[in-house]
Amino acid sequence: MPIPDSIDPESIPRHVAIIMDGNGRWAKRQGKPRLFGHKNGVNSVQEVVECAGDLGVEVLTLYAFSTENWKRPADEVGGLMGLLKIYLQKELTKMVKNSIRLTCIGNIAKLPKDVREVLENTMRQTATNTKLTLNLALSYGGRAEMVRAIRQISEEVCNGDLEVSAIDETLIDSHLYTAELPDPDLLIRTGGEARLSNFLLWQASYAEIYFTDTMWPDFRRDAFCAAIEEFQSRERRFGKTSAQVESG
Ligand code: FPP
Repeated sequence: MPIPDSIDPESIPRHVAIIMDGNGRWAKRQGKPRLFGHKNGVNSVQEVVECAGDLGVEVLTLYAFSTENWKRPADEVGGLMGLLKIYLQKELTKMVKNSIRLTCIGNIAKLPKDVREVLENTMRQTATNTKLTLNLALSYGGRAEMVRAIRQISEEVCNGDLEVSAIDETLIDSHLYTAELPDPDLLIRTGGEARLSNFLLWQASYAEIYFTDTMWPDFRRDAFCAAIEEFQSRERRFGKTSAQVESG
């Protein structure tokens, strides 16, 4: 699909991260079970992945399952895991054809074995693809990610492999799940809530945040393009003044 004229192809965000919220409410409004909302949410995933690839986004991170989501009723958790497995199995051919590399962040050891196997197989088979990195946050929490990084760094210090004075932002970055990825430039949350919900807490420090009332199953190509347009209308100063930014 061609890029809409309203989008400047020269300033596409490198990394877009999305909190896909609102599936349950979307389903409830239609008198349907929550899983119906998640199923329709998969259609949005497909459309947004395709659109991100067309626009030239390098990394798309989707918050598919948080550390807190394990507390949901077992049938919903099982339903979500099933949808994830089917999605990965169905999309593999398309990922290979469209040069999409699948990666994930989070504690995937907690995922059911069959889902983990499909996930690992998809990651292996798409590892050399270069167009778009589709990064799924699965059993992910920003605080747990930081605890993991602090433990790893502490062990290196205790073993004598690292000086405390060598701990800086770059070193911490390198111990996060996202070590190989650029920080998100744009963070989108659908579903009308305005909070980060433990998502990319360290990495989103300078991300432009875009909240929309649109429920995730209704968040399709046009809605994604509208978020990109809004991103392009913002001035990113990274702590500098406007005048400094303008003078380069
Ligand atoms: C939040 O909506 C959404 C989730 C917890 C799961 C997102 C999962 C999908 C979109 C489908 C599977 C994903 C992939 C990548 C194939 P909610 O249930 O919290 O909605 P609510 O706030 O309206 O209850």
